[in-house]
Amino acid sequence: MAKAKKKAVFFCRECGYESPKWLGQCPVCHEWDSFTEAPPAQAHIKSNVKGIAGIVQNTPKVLNEVKAGEEERTVTGIGELDRVLGGGIVAGSLTLVGGDPGIGKSTLLLQMCRQLSAAGHKVLYVSGEESPKQIKMRAERIGTFNSSLYILCETDLGAVSETITDMEPGMVIIDSIQTMYSEEAGQTPGTAGQIRETTGILMRLAKSLQVSIFIVGHVTKEGVVAGPKLLEHMVDTVLYFEGEGGASYRFLRSVKNRFGPTNEIGVFEMRQDGLEEVLNPSGYMLQGKPENEPGSVVTCSVEGTRPILVEVQALVCQTNFNMPRRTAAGTDYNRVTLLMAVIEKRLGIRLGGYDAYINVAGGMKINEPALDLGIVAAILSSYRNKAFDSRTVCFGEVGLVGEVRAVNLPGQRVMEASKLGFKRCILPKANSQKLSFDTGDLNGMQVTGVGSIYELLEVI
Ligand code: TYD
Ligand code: MG
Repeated sequence: MAKAKKKAVFFCRECGYESPKWLGQCPVCHEWDSFTEAPPAQAHIKSNVKGIAGIVQNTPKVLNEVKAGEEERTVTGIGELDRVLGGGIVAGSLTLVGGDPGIGKSTLLLQMCRQLSAAGHKVLYVSGEESPKQIKMRAERIGTFNSSLYILCETDLGAVSETITDMEPGMVIIDSIQTMYSEEAGQTPGTAGQIRETTGILMRLAKSLQVSIFIVGHVTKEGVVAGPKLLEHMVDTVLYFEGEGGASYRFLRSVKNRFGPTNEIGVFEMRQDGLEEVLNPSGYMLQGKPENEPGSVVTCSVEGTRPILVEVQALVCQTNFNMPRRTAAGTDYNRVTLLMAVIEKRLGIRLGGYDAYINVAGGMKINEPALDLGIVAAILSSYRNKAFDSRTVCFGEVGLVGEVRAVNLPGQRVMEASKLGFKRCILPKANSQKLSFDTGDLNGMQVTGVGSIYELLEVI
């Protein structure tokens, strides 16, 4: 049979979508003018990196006879990282660590390497961005390292995979995927085709040698890892490292995890000597909270399985413009405008003539619906210029007709508030009716259920 002629392939630079012909707009990510041509010889890339089938198992097996057992995990010794990974690093897994440049990805992974090598694992740190000297300088800030950590400064993935095959380390760090290139893909490093190819090679290495690989991926200005979805669906676990420019807090979040829970977060503080774990994030988030100031309300968000208290601030003041200004930092803008519309309609408070600025203090981005009631309380507090009681926590989802709807894990939220010394919780009525506590647990916590934002107004 004659060999089929290899056709050119076009890639979307943004999401990696592949098409046999050039398109003006990507049908997947809707980006305009993002298609580039991959050379014809590369048309095989797709099949090369499809997944792990054929690597770990190549004959059909009866599902019932496959032994699953517990995944073999290596604890990193950094509690917050282990929590986000779902209890440690799974052998043969591929993990993507994404985040803005300078946020601390290299620092976190180097600290992880330090712990792992101290526990006797052979670790290889591949850097395509820094020289051994630069890595050493960073390492000196972090602490002392033992001799089972190896550094390789290389951008050619062919050479890297040879080293991995020869050296057989237990863990490998690739910093960063955007700097790696594979000759087979024949494009400049950092393009979607290259990232797809190099990630595919790493995936196969991880599965066939049972080595755990961490890859660092920079986030582009649009807020996505270059070649975003493409990378995310190829790897086993995706962690995002985020934080606000000036603040020293850093949040590590799992957005995908084939071996554990998602949306779990780990909290760190960037110090002079590297990243420090924050064991009491609620206490940390509430540091510097003003006492008895209008517009400041403490609410409780559940991130993964962990309740975290955060302060919502609102500033509502008369506008000088025809169109009032609205901003939301650390939470969803549309949600805030919607809540303001609900307040306006249901409570009859005319907010049309007011600017409103909402901020979740501490640099954490929260989109949990349970924040709604806190946001509403903060807006009302600022609008009426009346301080919200500083010993009260307020959480619940607010619906379009002003009803306060139940949220998950109410008990844990109340417990967290009690642990931090709060005396009262305002929460959805549906939740408060089902709460059962040993009175001793609550330290005299007063629980107030509200069914609507109208009732909220009555109890504050
Ligand atoms: P880095 O890990 O290089 O970020 P990324 O790999 O995500 O680009 O972090 C660099 C920043 O962290 C830099 O601004 C310096 C700061 N930093 C500290 O504050 N303390 C430290 O101990 C280290 C190593 C870095
Ligand atoms: Mg780096």
